[in-house]
Amino acid sequence: FSLLPFNTFRIEARARHYVRVEQVDQLAAALADPALAALPRLVLGGGSNLLLTQDFNGLVLHMALAGKAIVGEDAGHVLVRASAGENWHGFVQYTLEQGLGGLENLSLIPGTVGAAPIQNIGAYGAEIKDVFHSLTAFDPATGTLREMRAEECRFAYRDSVFKHAEGRGLIIVDVTFALPKAWTPNLRYAELAQAVAADGITAPTARQISDAVIAVRRRKLPDPAEIGNAGSFFKNPVVSGAQCARLLEQFPDLVHHAQADGTEKLAAGWLIDRCGWKGRNLGPAGVYPKQALVLVNNGGARGADIVALAKAIQADVQARYGVLLEPEPVFI
Ligand code: EPU
Repeated sequence: FSLLPFNTFRIEARARHYVRVEQVDQLAAALADPALAALPRLVLGGGSNLLLTQDFNGLVLHMALAGKAIVGEDAGHVLVRASAGENWHGFVQYTLEQGLGGLENLSLIPGTVGAAPIQNIGAYGAEIKDVFHSLTAFDPATGTLREMRAEECRFAYRDSVFKHAEGRGLIIVDVTFALPKAWTPNLRYAELAQAVAADGITAPTARQISDAVIAVRRRKLPDPAEIGNAGSFFKNPVVSGAQCARLLEQFPDLVHHAQADGTEKLAAGWLIDRCGWKGRNLGPAGVYPKQALVLVNNGGARGADIVALAKAIQADVQARYGVLLEPEPVFI
């Protein structure tokens, strides 16, 4: 079964078994078959944070659960729920159409609702953990559904319990967000604030912020429909305050952001750019010319081609800055 249509890097790799999951009970049914249950599993959403490095000798569960609705409210929030297979950006637009703000900074992020909590998707000064209420997960070990609140999900920068041993096997079936009734704009991210101001807007609505985010993203990030990619290929590395200070002595224009705990987050795109990789190719894999953090498939790349490019970049950044860049997508 070819996975080419199901990964935004547009890499050809094959899976042994494939099940398209349109109803929750299909999960239990598929895993009730001992032959299927024994296989390694890949839970697939939009395939936009995935690098296929080889054929997958296992079971692909393609999450196509659909549905979104307002499900309740409390004093300060409206609760909105979407099923795992819903397109993320479509869901953000739906909340805006309902007059609800809170997700606008996360407009146009590729992928599905069910995948969003796994890496706590974030952009332009917001992360889903800021407005997350709860989710429902299917636990293959018990065959039952369970509700998980934010604490249990252990959200952090591009991280959650679902990326670690305790949560890795869980299958997210729906996610509920608590969106504020008294919405205020989040313009902490300077580039977004500038884009809004440049449009002559002084008191932006959530819709106007969404439009500004869409414009900024279109300017800087490749559209996976046109050029294979998985967004940021590396996480922004976090270093100690002392290490950052040492680097600044040598590289005064290093881009860094102080974190609440005294550590410093460095801009991986800047590090890669300064190593001369922006716009460079290695075989059919390349570094996107407008954003060095994004690796692209210029056509016909295999997972190994992307890995070779990533390793070359990691080696150069390590040699020059003493910082190890960690990949962001999931490797299969
Ligand atoms: N920079 C360069 N050269 C480059 C790219 C960036 O010098 O080629 C510098 C920029 O000038 C800027 C700094 O690096 O000063 C940061 O760049 P940018 O604002 O573009 O954001 P980023 O750190 O590269 C992160 C997220 C993106 C998210 C944007 C906006 C990570 C790994 N990436 O990128 O997320 O959209 O901020 O919030 O945290 C993704 O995860 O797939 C993704 C696209």
